Order: sequence, then structure tokens, then C-alpha cells
Amino acid sequence: MPRPTTFHSASVAQTKVLGKNFGKNIRTGAILALAGPFGGGKTTFVQGLASGVRLGRKIVSPTFVKMASYAIPNTDRRFYHLDLFHLRSRSEFRELGLSEILKNTRDIVIIEWPEKVKAWLPPRTHWIHFAHDPKNAKTRIIQIR
Ligand SMILES: Nc1ncnc2c1ncn2[C@@H]1O[C@H](COP(=O)(O)OP(=O)(O)O)[C@@H](O)[C@H]1O
Ligand SMILES: [Mg+2]
Repeated sequence: MPRPTTFHSASVAQTKVLGKNFGKNIRTGAILALAGPFGGGKTTFVQGLASGVRLGRKIVSPTFVKMASYAIPNTDRRFYHLDLFHLRSRSEFRELGLSEILKNTRDIVIIEWPEKVKAWLPPRTHWIHFAHDPKNAKTRIIQIR
């Protein structure tokens, strides 16, 4: 992304469309850090993204398993979806094998709660920030940096 772009999404459907369009254009080896509070729309965006890359699978929040990995049909790429909210220690980070996953330049890696591993994310990581709109409970402000 050349410069920050801000979207105001007025519904779950719109957030999914944003994710889908992002997914259609996503580069091989992309790492996405989705930052922002609970209910900000991160997982909703990932659901759209999954359809944009034709994953052919329904994405659910991987909160309790921390990481879910899917083969992208008709490609040799994988789609990793991590939710690091519950990540507590450096050894848990090591157990996940995330540093190996981050080295690859072929798969797609999406990380919710990326602040937890900020120091380990490569500079090429794309950051997307999600926020509630204080003026409208149905709106999410999504900034792609
Ligand atoms: N414009 C919107 N975009 C995305 N989610 C929205 C929107 N408006 C309301 N919501 C609600 O906010 C919540 C977003 O949940 P989720 O995508 O799981 O967020 P996160 O992964 O950031 O915690 C859902 O309950 C959804 O119904
Ligand atoms: Mg989530």
C-alpha cells in the first residue's frame, strides 16, 4: 500500500467486502498485522479476505488454538490465521513456530493482536488498524497503512 487509506465500514457485510478486495490483490508472501480492540472487525475482515483468496473455507476465530492454517486450493500456498490475544510468553511464541512461518515468502500470514509480537514482525508487514466509531455503534474505521 503506497499511503494510508481510511475506510468507514457501515456494516459487517462492508467489512467483509473490504477484506475480500484486499485478498484479491494480496501478494505472495504477504504478512498482515490486524491491530485494534475487541469487536473492531478484525476477524470479520479475515473472513472476507479468505473469500478473496478463494480459500473455500469458513474462517472462525482461532482464539483458543491461537493459530489455524489452511491450504489455499489450487495453489501451493497456505493461509495462516493467528489470534495472539492469549499469547503470554516468549516460549509460547516459539512453540507456535511463528518465526519460521514469517520467514517464508510464499504463504499468507494474518495476525490478530500483532502488538504481542511486534518486535519479531519483519518490516515488510502490512499494518491495518481497526477502531470503533465513537459516533456510530455500527461503523468501524479501518486504516490501511
Ligand atoms: N461495520 C462493522 N464491521 C465489522 N463488524 C461489525 C460492524 N458493525 C458491527 N460489527 C460487529 O462487531 C463485531 C466484530 O467482531 P470481530 O470481527 O470478531 O472483531 P475482532 O476480531 O476485531 O474482535 C461483530 O459482533 C459484528 O457483528
Ligand atoms: Mg478476532
